[in-house]
Amino acid sequence: MQIETIETHAYNDQNPGTSGLRKKVKVFEQPGYLENFVQAIFDSLEDFSGKTLVLGGDGRYFNRVAIQIIIKIAAANGFGELIIGQGGLLSTPAASHIIRKYQAFGGLILSASHNPGGPNEDFGIKYNVGNGGPAPEKYTDAFFQRSQVIDSYKTAIIEDVDLDNLGSQQIDGLKVTIIDPVTDYAALMQSIFDFNLLKQSISSGYITLMFDAMSAITGPYAKRILVDMLGAAPDSVINAEPLEDFGGHHPDPNLAHAHELAERMFSAGAPTFGAASDGDGDRNMITGSNIFVTPSDSLAIMAANAHLIPAYAKGLSGVARSMPTSQAVDRVAACYNIPCYETPTGWKFFGNLLDAGKITLCGEESFGTGSDHVREKDGLWAVLFWLNLIAVKRMPVADIVHEHWQKFGRDIYCRHDYEAVETPVANAIVDCLRQQITTLPGQSFGEYVVKYADEFCYEDPIDGSISKNQGIRIGFENGSRIVFRLSGTGTVGATLRIYIERFEADATRHNQDAQVALAELIELAEQFCEVKKRTGRVAPDVTT
Ligand code: G1P
Ligand code: ZN
Repeated sequence: MQIETIETHAYNDQNPGTSGLRKKVKVFEQPGYLENFVQAIFDSLEDFSGKTLVLGGDGRYFNRVAIQIIIKIAAANGFGELIIGQGGLLSTPAASHIIRKYQAFGGLILSASHNPGGPNEDFGIKYNVGNGGPAPEKYTDAFFQRSQVIDSYKTAIIEDVDLDNLGSQQIDGLKVTIIDPVTDYAALMQSIFDFNLLKQSISSGYITLMFDAMSAITGPYAKRILVDMLGAAPDSVINAEPLEDFGGHHPDPNLAHAHELAERMFSAGAPTFGAASDGDGDRNMITGSNIFVTPSDSLAIMAANAHLIPAYAKGLSGVARSMPTSQAVDRVAACYNIPCYETPTGWKFFGNLLDAGKITLCGEESFGTGSDHVREKDGLWAVLFWLNLIAVKRMPVADIVHEHWQKFGRDIYCRHDYEAVETPVANAIVDCLRQQITTLPGQSFGEYVVKYADEFCYEDPIDGSISKNQGIRIGFENGSRIVFRLSGTGTVGATLRIYIERFEADATRHNQDAQVALAELIELAEQFCEVKKRTGRVAPDVTT
């Protein structure tokens, strides 16, 4: 194989965030930008010569171009085999599964998740390690360090690879295998859930459903699994064709962006079950006829009912949630007497706990839930989990949620996002919050007495690694909480996220609107951080 070494200059902004390196496509299109980052990753890894790399993405604009570039750099750096999803497509959870199933050395996943796609929108790349999970911080730090001093990259002089025909080919000693992106993943789902029961529940009409693939990667997965394997009506999967620009929409599964689904689920004659996934297929939104299930509640309900699902019939070894996720799952863990871990935001922090068998289920408030079946959050898995629960319990979504609240109480929850805040303003907000950490404890604000204020620092119980500055928490004597943190996935300015929760034990007060029930805490959050005052805004950009 003929290999060329190309001189390059380092870029100083290649620091991976919560989930890989995400930038505007225009940034990635700069000469050597993608090449540098990929070479920096390979320079930071050891002993992969002759080994296998998995490659695929969510199909957004620049996906195919990036894949051809990466194939050549991977070939030049000595990988022995590349496993690539047909058309360059792989959902993030499917990529995680394929890395594990074929015992690959690692994988590169091309996605900016729920961020919009297109020539003027976002692109992203992240490296996943051999357990199928996102590279931990010690890797991503090393990638960044290397990217800052890189002065050349290696590339193989080979033709572009045909990404569309299945099968293996040899290219100058490199094996390239194009696989169907769905088959392995669908088989995994079939091994976890009761497909026979689901088929019956769908064919008998007990379950009717609508799944919004948001013109992103889960279309082909949902069609194969929900329609072909489980017999759902073909029109129950909407926006099923992956588009490079997601049809101009945000492929973000929430009530605002999945509006077609939301309208249907809150109208007369709504299906039993409605769900959506994001750009790369790892997020999920769960709804039922006239009800939206918050991701934090969804995690807790899954944990409370997991024994009803074939793969989890023996019970859970433990559960974990990201720090800003509501404490609903903690109550389930306490009741079942299993451990509950609180980790920083980002799926990478669950990896060690899953590998060590300390947890079976985990999730984040940001529409992410998953289990030990892969090392990413998994949108369709969550959809199938809920469908399986509905089928076993013979209960509609609303009844399942209300039953849960009756038993455990309700953690009323919301998140407010202020997007594209000027970075100095956002940093000033965080500094100001930091200064209040020592003064707030003991102070009273109406019925709310501050019990503690701190900046979340995580010590990984498995490898002892420490992650500092993971968000500011203000906890109250009555169990309520306000959390502030800056997003690590945005590409413009800074995004301030404010997470607010209050526990309500009284079942007669469970059916409140969260914004109303949390109004006092929302006011308090503004008093502490002054985001409206400092930015001149009147309301958050996104409320979930
Ligand atoms: C966001 C979510 C986080 C999730 C990540 C990747 O990160 O908040 O829970 O893991 O996207 O999907 P953030 O932008 O808050 O850093
Ligand atoms: Zn995603």
